[in-house]
Amino acid sequence: MMTAPAPKRPSASLTEMTQLLLPGDANALGAAFGGSVMGWIDICAAVCAQRHCRQTVVTASMDELHFFAPIKVGWAVTLRARVIAAFNTSMEIGVSVHTENPLTGETQLTTSALLTFVALDAQGRKLPVPSLLLDSQAEQLAAADAAERRRERLTRKARDTGWLALVGPRVTEEVEDGQR
Ligand SMILES: CC(C)(COP(=O)(O)OP(=O)(O)OC[C@H]1O[C@@H](n2cnc3c(N)ncnc32)[C@H](O)[C@@H]1OP(=O)(O)O)[C@@H](O)C(=O)NCCC(=O)NCCS
Repeated sequence: MMTAPAPKRPSASLTEMTQLLLPGDANALGAAFGGSVMGWIDICAAVCAQRHCRQTVVTASMDELHFFAPIKVGWAVTLRARVIAAFNTSMEIGVSVHTENPLTGETQLTTSALLTFVALDAQGRKLPVPSLLLDSQAEQLAAADAAERRRERLTRKARDTGWLALVGPRVTEEVEDGQR
């Protein structure tokens, strides 16, 4: 039988990553392309999750993704990731993204997101992750909220989503039908 990994504090896996927004990651308005920011968020959160469980992880979901303000070309972008909750084989990671005007030092929150990662072994089997040692009341409240979100995610995932059928392969078939 596999022994449960030792519990860990969120401070043990805090992750910070800084990028410079270059034109290749910008949209036509000279601000960050959302997909690039989402990619950085995924990487920062994955490093955090792997530091917590010391296993390989895969992204199961990304949600509560909000872009509050644009990031301008030439500005610094700092991402911070923290484990909010650890369940059985999965962990919820919260990420904040702040931009910094390099000329003034002014900073602003631009983006936030929640991601869930699952720990897997080399054969793709799910692995137990360390539980989270929570010292403050704020941490405990955040973890309780995360448990509720986990329930909601699994419920939504299991639900028969009518919209998905609309954007599935049938759309292509309809286009092809229209061309015939
Ligand atoms: C994510 C994945 C491992 C889940 O495996 P699964 O067998 O479908 O899921 P299970 O129902 O057994 O759930 C396993 C864990 O994942 C969690 N989970 C599953 N789907 C989830 C979702 N959509 N959002 C959040 N958590 C989810 C479950 O809560 C469970 O956590 P727990 O063990 O802590 O209770 C699997 O779907 C997968 O490999 N997906 C592809 C991952 C991928 O390629 N990511 C992008 C590139 S890294």
